[in-house]
Amino acid sequence: MSRVITLDGPAGVGKSTIAKRVAEHCGIAYLDTGAMFRIVAKTLGPKNVAVPDEELARALASLSFSLSGSGGGTSLACNGEVAGQEIRTEEVGKLASDYATRPAVRAYLKKAQQDLGKAYSLVAEGRDMGTAVFPDAPYKFFLDASPEVRALRRVRQLAENGVIEDVAKVTRQIRERDEQDRNRALAPLKAADDAIVIDTSNLTVAQVFQTIAQALDE
Ligand code: DC
Repeated sequence: MSRVITLDGPAGVGKSTIAKRVAEHCGIAYLDTGAMFRIVAKTLGPKNVAVPDEELARALASLSFSLSGSGGGTSLACNGEVAGQEIRTEEVGKLASDYATRPAVRAYLKKAQQDLGKAYSLVAEGRDMGTAVFPDAPYKFFLDASPEVRALRRVRQLAENGVIEDVAKVTRQIRERDEQDRNRALAPLKAADDAIVIDTSNLTVAQVFQTIAQALDE
């Protein structure tokens, strides 16, 4: 039987890095559900974000998600194609957050995520994995850090790739996305009551991973 470990938290908290490591540790796949929302945003574009529900549901029905591999080598495909860096911009992230407020999108992706969770053991990372999508998961974690810490980490990461960004601007974008993700009516960003909450502000990636691995191995 498949098992699911959930990992939720706000934008830029380092969920993907940790999810990959935990998946590697457990020898299972990881599911980047933010990437699913980003693929929807990139595929349907800004023009469809406010179309009526039935029209949106029809457009979504043409998207089929699949997983292959495990650990850091897991890949998520949509209609057989693995998305690249084009879905990783803040513009696509914000549009993904806009699409994420639409009931038709949440319902469609929740079903797709649950189907993948039935087929594979997973580390599922996102905003509502522990609260809405996999409420019965035996292990739930919620990562948190202040917007300033997250913005600084992102700016440093971008700088390593030769991209210079303004910390104040990135902090603003992170706050804006937090605001929308935490306050939407449907499946808002929130720690499940039974999740282990980890404030990563003063922890290294290795320390966060250790905390999770210890809880899993207990
Ligand atoms: O984790 P991310 O930045 O790639 O996610 C992009 C957006 O997708 C995020 O701002 C809100 C939405 N999202 C969501 O609503 N629920 C999830 N489980 C994952 C992402």
